[in-house]
Amino acid sequence: MSPRLLRADADPVGRHDTPLTVTVNGEPLAGVAGQTVAGVLLASGRRSWRAGPSGAPRGVFCGIGVCFDCLVTVNGERDVRACRRRAADGDVVTTQSREPGDAR
Ligand code: FES
Repeated sequence: MSPRLLRADADPVGRHDTPLTVTVNGEPLAGVAGQTVAGVLLASGRRSWRAGPSGAPRGVFCGIGVCFDCLVTVNGERDVRACRRRAADGDVVTTQSREPGDAR
């Protein structure tokens, strides 16, 4: 079993997760307090959520805020690095694209 799938009540360390819900392109995703937006997206099974200029999929590459591959819009704020933004309950996330002709 992957650690991210370990139920809090079965965790031998005794952590107590605070659940949160983030909406991504209108779809509610469950997360826990302390996760980044990228963490919530990855835990939901997404590996990419935007496209680069060539149309190639982009998601988390560096995971430390350097590459800007993970950009999303959070609560109307564009170009937020998903790996650096801590998710908050009720956040509204929309994915972005840099494909030619895509104005998002
Ligand atoms: S994954 Fe590189 S900036 Fe977020």
